[in-house]
Amino acid sequence: MEKVVSGIRPTGNLHLGNYFGAVRSFVAMQDKYQCMFFIADWHSLTTHPKPEDIQQSARTILAEYLACGLDPKKAPIYVQSDVRETIELYLYLNMNMYLGELERVTTFKEKARQQPDNVNAGLLTYPTLMAADILQHRANWVPVGKDQEQNMEMARKCARRFNNIYGVEFFPEPQNFYFSDQAVKIPGLDGSGKMGKSEGNCIYLRDDDKTITKKVMRAVTDNGPQEPNSQRPDVIENLFTFLRIVSTPDTYQYFDEKWNDCTLRYGDLKKQIAADLVAVVAPIREKIEYYSANTELLDQIAREGAEVARESARATLNEVRRIIGFRV
Ligand code: TYM
Repeated sequence: MEKVVSGIRPTGNLHLGNYFGAVRSFVAMQDKYQCMFFIADWHSLTTHPKPEDIQQSARTILAEYLACGLDPKKAPIYVQSDVRETIELYLYLNMNMYLGELERVTTFKEKARQQPDNVNAGLLTYPTLMAADILQHRANWVPVGKDQEQNMEMARKCARRFNNIYGVEFFPEPQNFYFSDQAVKIPGLDGSGKMGKSEGNCIYLRDDDKTITKKVMRAVTDNGPQEPNSQRPDVIENLFTFLRIVSTPDTYQYFDEKWNDCTLRYGDLKKQIAADLVAVVAPIREKIEYYSANTELLDQIAREGAEVARESARATLNEVRRIIGFRV
C-alpha cells in the first residue's frame, strides 16, 4: 500500500474550516493508504513557546483529531518530538541544502518579515525538518494545502539530491496529495471569504450548542431576495454553502425554492443551519471532551504511535547511515 505522511501544526483548536477541509479528508485517507500522522511540535519551537504550553497543545490537537475520526489502529498518530531519529536525518539532509535556496522559500521570507528579531536557523531549515519528517518514512504522498507546496518542492529536492550524491534510488520523491475533489471550503459568516483563525470568524468544534447557534444567527445577510430566480449575493450564497454541507438535499431544495420565489426569511434559514450544524458538531464535541478528560489514554495513543514511527524511521536511518558510510 502506498504511504502517506502528514504533519499537523499544534495551533489552537479545530474549526469547521479545518474539519470540512483537511480533517475529514484525513479520516477518509486512512482506509485507502498506509497513513501516519504526527503533531509537529518541533516546528513550533521557531516561535519559542512556553514549556507548559507544549504538551498541552499537543494533547489538545490529538484529542480533536481523534474525535474527528482519526483511528490510531488504522493510522498511527505520534508527536514529532517523541521520534528523535528524525533529527539525525535532518542533519544529513541539511548538509545538502544551500543557504540561498532556503532563503528563497516564501514562508521563510514571510516569517522573517513577521518576526525580524527572531530569524533563527530553525526557521531557515524548516523545509529540511519537514523533508526529514516525510523521507524518514519514505512516504509517497503528502496532503498539501497551497501554502505547503514550496516546502514539498524542497522535500523532493532533498530526496533527489541524496539519491544523486550517493548514486542510489533510495528515497522516493514524495508527491503532493490534493483533497480538492473532496474538501469543502467553508466561508466565514461575517461576510469575509473564508473561515479562518486570523479572520476571527470561526465556529469551533469545541463550541457548545448555544455558541454555535449564536454565531450562525449573527451571520451577515442583506435585504432579502428582490426578484424571482435572481443570483444570490456572496453573503447569502455562504449560508447556502452551509446548508448544502450540513442539511439534507430536501432541506436545501426547500430553501432554494423559497429564495427563488422571494419568500425566504433569513431567520428561518439560519435557524435551520444552526440546528443541523449542532447535530454535526455536538457528537464530535462530546468525543473531544471524552479524550481531553483522558490524558492517560491520549498519552498511550501517542506512545504507541511513536513506537511505530520510530521503527519505520530507524529502518530508514540504518540504510541512510550505511549509504553515507557510517557504522550501523
Ligand atoms: P498545517 O498544520 O498547515 O496543515 C496540516 C496538514 O494538512 C494539509 N492540508 C491540506 N491538504 C490538502 N488539502 C487541503 N485543503 C489542506 N489543508 C491543509 C497540510 O498541507 C498539512 O499536511 N508545515 C506543515 C506541518 C508539517 C508537515 C510536515 C506536513 C511539518 N512537517 C511533514 C506534512 C509533512 C503545516 O504547517 O501544516
